[in-house]
Amino acid sequence: MPSVYIETYGCQMNVSDSELMYGKLRSEGYETVDAPQGADVVLVNTCAIRENAEQRVIGRLGELRRDLKPGAVLGVTGCMAQRLGPRLLETDTRVQLVVGPDAYRMLPALIEGARQGERFSATDFDLEEHYEDFTARRFEGVKAWIPVQRGCDYRCTYCIVPTTRGPERSRRLADVVRETREVVAQGITEVVLLGQTVNSYHDGTHDFSDLLRAVGAVEGLRRLRYTSPHPNDFSDRVIAAMAETPTVCEHVHLPMQSGSTSMLKRMLRRYTREEYLDCVSRLRAAIPGLGLTTDIIVGFPGETDEEFEETLSLCREVRFDDAFTFKFSAREGTPATRMPAEWTVPPEVVDARYDALFATLRGISRERNMARLGERLEVLVEKEARKGEGLYQARSRDFKTVLVPGTPESVGTYLHVELTGTTGATFTGTPVAERHALPMAG
Ligand code: SAH
Ligand code: SF4
Ligand code: F3S
Repeated sequence: MPSVYIETYGCQMNVSDSELMYGKLRSEGYETVDAPQGADVVLVNTCAIRENAEQRVIGRLGELRRDLKPGAVLGVTGCMAQRLGPRLLETDTRVQLVVGPDAYRMLPALIEGARQGERFSATDFDLEEHYEDFTARRFEGVKAWIPVQRGCDYRCTYCIVPTTRGPERSRRLADVVRETREVVAQGITEVVLLGQTVNSYHDGTHDFSDLLRAVGAVEGLRRLRYTSPHPNDFSDRVIAAMAETPTVCEHVHLPMQSGSTSMLKRMLRRYTREEYLDCVSRLRAAIPGLGLTTDIIVGFPGETDEEFEETLSLCREVRFDDAFTFKFSAREGTPATRMPAEWTVPPEVVDARYDALFATLRGISRERNMARLGERLEVLVEKEARKGEGLYQARSRDFKTVLVPGTPESVGTYLHVELTGTTGATFTGTPVAERHALPMAG
């Protein structure tokens, strides 16, 4: 049996695609292995979102070249493969396959050809492709990533994703529900629906609110999450579905990018500061105890001190639970690269803003987290903690990381814990007995 190893970079969409590729290759008679040494086929599933994501892959390809056994096939898949296509075959002579996100169906045939010594690039988009007949080989046993939408129809001026993932298209609701039932039957109780602007989901008949209600009602499912929504696609229907479906967790990752309306306009985010705030208010009003996280870019072309201040002030106003912060990275072919050269923010200014933003966000999450010590909540144990003997990493419904004592058998179980400590970012929790509401005295 030939063996295949896939190394995954980038977002959950790529993790999910790797699971599909593994599943497909397994059904074609490949054995899946978890190291490149000795594998007959090595695929690197890549990300192109920022320059450093691509640099990492280029460095890694150099290392892998040394690890490969003679005659092994080396392929590049994912967003960088889509972006560079045949150029990758030219720059790296060891790479035999370059396969974009809509061409994974061709993988078995392409690998066969590569084993005969050929080299291919396959990067056509296929607007019908959802890999419905592939059975994902999932990495995790606790939660399942389920893609519901591929591609993106927004055109944020910094972003490479529309180029690497093509136009937006949604899976049929019935297919998503079927897959959810399948994973629940395997013992998985948490599902995360994936899409670049997942709440713009529409399969021609059903919108995202229908999807949340239908998936959320699958028997045996205990937690439903989704990522990432776009602020403009939070209709009242979607918010109501979220609030009214008990399995949908009280957490939204709501990318903000900037707190300044003029910056948002240059980014083509299609909302203002006020509209973003309004979206947050509507979500918080409908869903008590909502955890809110975000993505922010600093140093986008033309960012002034005042605009950056508005980002800081929006963070203070919203008080996010957590945030991912990124330094702007110019991506070839995106509209941001055509902005006037004098708009480029000097690297030392970007660094200083990044540090200031990071400190502001950390301070806010620390304050929010400290205020929650003593609270009791339900967590799902996900995996062994990276540090600490006998400690396991668990998550609350509102997306807090809680370290709890456990054993390998704890993974996948739900615990009631009291939050007893916090580093500012993560919590430690002590298991407590579940409290049942007492019946009212007659
Ligand atoms: N589809 C998601 C975002 C996917 S990319 C959405 O619209 O919310 C994840 C994050 O990477 C983005 O939210 C943005 O903050 C960041 N990002 C995207 N392109 C970037 C670039 N060129 N430079 C720096 N950060 C970028
Ligand atoms: Fe990129 Fe914008 Fe689409 Fe998100 S919505 S993937 S940031 S273009
Ligand atoms: Fe990266 Fe592609 Fe995801 S560019 S962030 S792997 S959609």
